[in-house]
Parts: sequence; structure tokens; C-alpha cells
Amino acid sequence: MLLRTKKELESFLSLKKENEDIGLVPTMGALHQGHLSLVSAALSENKKVVISIFVNPTQFNNTEDLRKYPQTLEADIDLLSTISNELVVFAPSTEEIYADEVKTKSYQFHGLDKVMEGEFREDHFNGVGTIVEMLLRLVKPDSAYFGEKDFQQLQIIRKMVELQQLPVEIIGCPIVREPNGLAMSSRNERLSKTLRKEASFIYETLQNAKEKFGTNSAQEVIKWVQKKFENHQLLNLEYIEITDADTLTPIQKKQKNVKYRAFVAVYADDVRLIDNIALN
Ligand code: PAJ
Repeated sequence: MLLRTKKELESFLSLKKENEDIGLVPTMGALHQGHLSLVSAALSENKKVVISIFVNPTQFNNTEDLRKYPQTLEADIDLLSTISNELVVFAPSTEEIYADEVKTKSYQFHGLDKVMEGEFREDHFNGVGTIVEMLLRLVKPDSAYFGEKDFQQLQIIRKMVELQQLPVEIIGCPIVREPNGLAMSSRNERLSKTLRKEASFIYETLQNAKEKFGTNSAQEVIKWVQKKFENHQLLNLEYIEITDADTLTPIQKKQKNVKYRAFVAVYADDVRLIDNIALN
């Protein structure tokens, strides 16, 4: 079922029975197997599943990027129909969501938004928070599903839900990878055949970093990863960070009972790829 307006969404929700759980999977479309894994998780835990498809202007800080974002609604619906005929797609227009004023709300994310993906993209995570809060208030799901591919985004959404006291469970789902290990992303389509093959180096290096983290200091692991990328002809490392997985603060000294994660952003030509891995 395709819903284009808030009104249509409301009338769908009004038919819902009291004991039927709703799962929400927010996306910007151009769907691939990574997105489908979230939909499958939602289907296994809820009676009804809503997938939102909305290219959210407030999280782009570059109008060119926003303009170029792929819009493939028909193909997305076809792909979704391969896993279930009962899915509900909510694909509103920008006007429907933001009326005539595209406005970003400001949140107090306590620094979660200032590192890594937030460092050079001012207001990006405020934009993500703005749209996800709106979607949660509109759909009122019992659970909402997000990928660990965007681990920082997942933690920021958890924080936003806590700050706004929204009655929803946020579920993080594992990263889905191509057979060679490259994390699935709509950006992979822009890679040449050679680069797509070479990009398996990213996950391979993260896995080796994880192994090294067992016996080496975080600083040594970071240096080792930097060196590996310096020696790679085709991939350029933008950052490698090792942080506390919950607070995203950079590691100082390894502590017991703290979960750590490594994060990288890598350029393959002009295509920017991100990936991350749990270290312990
Ligand atoms: P989008 O990039 O379309 O991603 C939608 C969801 O799919 C996110 O939760 C993302 O982490 C997840 N995802 C993408 N690739 C994945 C992979 N390889 N494995 C597992 N999950 C994957 O993220 C956004 O949209 C937007 O910021 C949004 C949250 C919808 C707000 O506009």
C-alpha cells in the first residue's frame, strides 16, 4: 500500500487494532539488501510494517548533493514486494512534511553530533533528528529499525528519543555486506568495477584492526590502519576513530567493561564510504 499524505497515513493508522504492533523503517529510498534486512527484522516482530521513503532536505548541507540523491520509488516498491505484499510505504512530498518552511530543530546531543560524520557537516544530525522525530510522532510505531552501518546516527536517534521521551523502542540491526565484505550502500553503484573490488580492503582492514586491538593499544591500532591506507594506491582514508560505542568519545586508555568500536570514512575516487566494526 502506498500512502502519500499525512491524512492517508492517519486513516490507515485508525484501522489498526489495539494489540497490533507497528514497526517503522525510515529510509531515503534507493533501497538495497541492507534496507531490506531492516524490513525483515521489522516484519518478524510486528503485525504491521511501515517503510518511510523521504529524501530529507534538512540533513543535507549541500544542495547539489540533495539534488543528485537517487529517487527510485517504483523500483523501491518492486523490491519491497519481493519480501511481502503487506508492507505500507509512506512516501510524502517535502511540502507535506515541512509545509512551506523547511526548518531544522536543534537538539542537545552532548557532543555525539560533533565527531566523525558530524564534524564537517554542521547541522546534519539536527536534520536527521528533526525528520526522525516527525516520523515517529506521525507513525507512532512500537519499534523503529536502524542500521549499524550508520552507527553514529543510531546512537544519536537513541539520544533524541530519550530527550523527547518518545514511547518507542529503537532497534539496531547488523551491517549487511556484499560478498567481498564491502558494506552495502547506494553509493556503491557509483564505484567502478575495479574500485568496488578494491573496496573490500576497508572491511578486511577493520577486521585486522579488531584482531590487533586484542593485544595492542588503541593508538598503535590507529597508526597501523593509517599506514595500511597510506600504502594503498586507490583508497584515501579520511578518518579512523576508536571510540566508546555508547558515548562515541574517543578512547584514551582501554578500560574493562567498556564496549569499543572503530569507525572509518574512506574515499574511493570521489565516492565517500563509511564503515565500522565492534572491537570487543
Ligand atoms: P538511508 O541512508 O536510506 O538508510 C536507511 C536505513 O538503512 C538506516 O538506518 C541505515 O543505517 C540502514 N542501512 C543502510 N545501509 C545498510 C547496510 N548495509 N546494512 C544495514 N543497514 C543499512 O539513514 C538514512 O537513510 C536517513 O538518515 C534517515 C534515518 C532515513 C533519516 O532521513
